[in-house]
Amino acid sequence: MASSIAVSRLHLRGRTCLLNCLQKVDTFLHRGVGTDAAVAQAQTTERDGSEAKDGRRSLLAVQDERREQAEKSVLISCQSRPSEKKFLKYLSRHGDVNKYFFYESYGVYAVVEFASRDGVASLIEAATIPSVSHESMVPFKSRLLSLRSVDSLNHQSGLPCQPQTSVSISELVHRLSSEDSVEQQITSLTEAFQLTEENSRLRFLVCSLLNDIAAAYFPECTIRPFGSSVNGFGKLGCDLDMFLDLDSISGWNVKQPKAGLLLEYQMKRANSERAVTQSILSVIGECVDQFGPGCVGVQRILNARCPLVRFSHQPSGFQCDLTANNRVAMISTELLYLYGELDPRVRHLVFTIRCWARAHGITSSIPGAWISNFSLTVMVLFFLQKRNPPIIPTLNHLRDLAGPADNSVIEGHDCTFVRDFSKIHLQRNSETLETLLCEFFVFYATFPFSRMSINIRKGKEQNKPEVAPLHIQNPFETSLNVSKNVNATQLSRFVALCQESSWLIQQSERNSPKSAAGESSPTPWGLAALLLPSQVEGMKSRVSMTTWAEPMNWSTLPSSA
Ligand code: GTP
Ligand code: MG
Repeated sequence: MASSIAVSRLHLRGRTCLLNCLQKVDTFLHRGVGTDAAVAQAQTTERDGSEAKDGRRSLLAVQDERREQAEKSVLISCQSRPSEKKFLKYLSRHGDVNKYFFYESYGVYAVVEFASRDGVASLIEAATIPSVSHESMVPFKSRLLSLRSVDSLNHQSGLPCQPQTSVSISELVHRLSSEDSVEQQITSLTEAFQLTEENSRLRFLVCSLLNDIAAAYFPECTIRPFGSSVNGFGKLGCDLDMFLDLDSISGWNVKQPKAGLLLEYQMKRANSERAVTQSILSVIGECVDQFGPGCVGVQRILNARCPLVRFSHQPSGFQCDLTANNRVAMISTELLYLYGELDPRVRHLVFTIRCWARAHGITSSIPGAWISNFSLTVMVLFFLQKRNPPIIPTLNHLRDLAGPADNSVIEGHDCTFVRDFSKIHLQRNSETLETLLCEFFVFYATFPFSRMSINIRKGKEQNKPEVAPLHIQNPFETSLNVSKNVNATQLSRFVALCQESSWLIQQSERNSPKSAAGESSPTPWGLAALLLPSQVEGMKSRVSMTTWAEPMNWSTLPSSA
């Protein structure tokens, strides 16, 4: 297969003494594994000026650090389980290792971050290119390496592998049923599903590996993740949305030439910016297809509203969507991240509602007339703006707090909002997560969808400007409806489910049948009961619970909505 021939295989030859790196190994083995992106960020070096007193940083600052880590990292396929200590001993010959972890996805892989890029260069230099008779060599050395089985490195006993998939529904329901309150159930669900520190690192590493390929055409380009991989609402197994950022080359946001000397561009004839985006993605897609190590099933979907290249990255198990010229989506990601960082209840409620919706087939990974996760998240944000007092501010308020550095106009749309957390003062609202969950269902069970539009810019419902069943104003491209695809049937299902869930959770509260006497497994109650379609009365369409857990196996996954 074309994609596999570009994988450099690392041949380990050394079999020397191990003792002098044991201390370092111990440090690694005892490292804490954060499951909360916010915790992970707080643990990282505090060197960015945009950090607020409480440790919260802007998404751009977090991304810069993650990207830097990724650029110093390699991904190593381990054909057999290596001895961790010997493995590190070998690696440390090439440079100090900052961090490493193992995970499983069709074999064992290691992500290794060196202290500097020299370590990566030295390791690649030491790797030999395999000679395989039926494959030809591609003149590209990637940072995806393969560790050939060497006796001295083999180790059969338990290698600690970081999970990259979420727990199964049955396990989750069991876990939630054992909790003492709905509040605890909600936090437990978030912990079970949110991206781990390791999964986030792996996502940035995949972007960085792709960046190496795209840089063959556009040396100054950057590939950045966006969407749920970085907005704080990502669930283990979610797709990896990537943005090919060419702005530093094209300088779209530079208003005035700074000097008398201008770069002379060789302009090519193109009808529109869209046509340019299509041709850029076309060549990058071809390159990924031909030379992208581990990239399989590459599709160039160039006629979509937002042209993209879709593929599976086999070593990570990620379903990837690469777009270009998608700056508004990047800004939306920043906004969602900011809202999620403002109050912990935001992330908890978004996670809970997203999981609940997925469990009942309200959302789907298959494109269609369903409500998307993005729309659902905006609905939760709107609901939180409507509390009395509001839990989060309106987008207009965030715009009013913005400073000169926050100014942003994209294709004529005002995308300005404050990034500095210290400028945002929240109102005092002490509602519990349990109250908010119940009230969310009541709110949307009775929302006048036929007349009103959801608008997080104003934090108020507005008269619907069009006849679509569900109207959610795009926060930045305000003339657009982000839920234009949703049909009346899907909206009715959502409303009916809100009614039934509101009733069910109140019943559950009253009875609290956590565990019948003598039963070994607790009876599903509270949020656990809400996640079981069989428990929610009146559901006409029920989904198989196995489809919800979003398995790591990319080949069985339908494409992302
Ligand atoms: P999942 O992939 O379902 O976990 O969530 P996601 O938030 O990543 O959604 P998706 O992959 O569909 O889209 C990626 C990002 O693109 C979103 O987070 C938004 O920032 C943006 N996006 C998606 N759909 C829309 C839309 O209809 N309008 C706008 N403005 N942005 C969108
Ligand atoms: Mg996504």
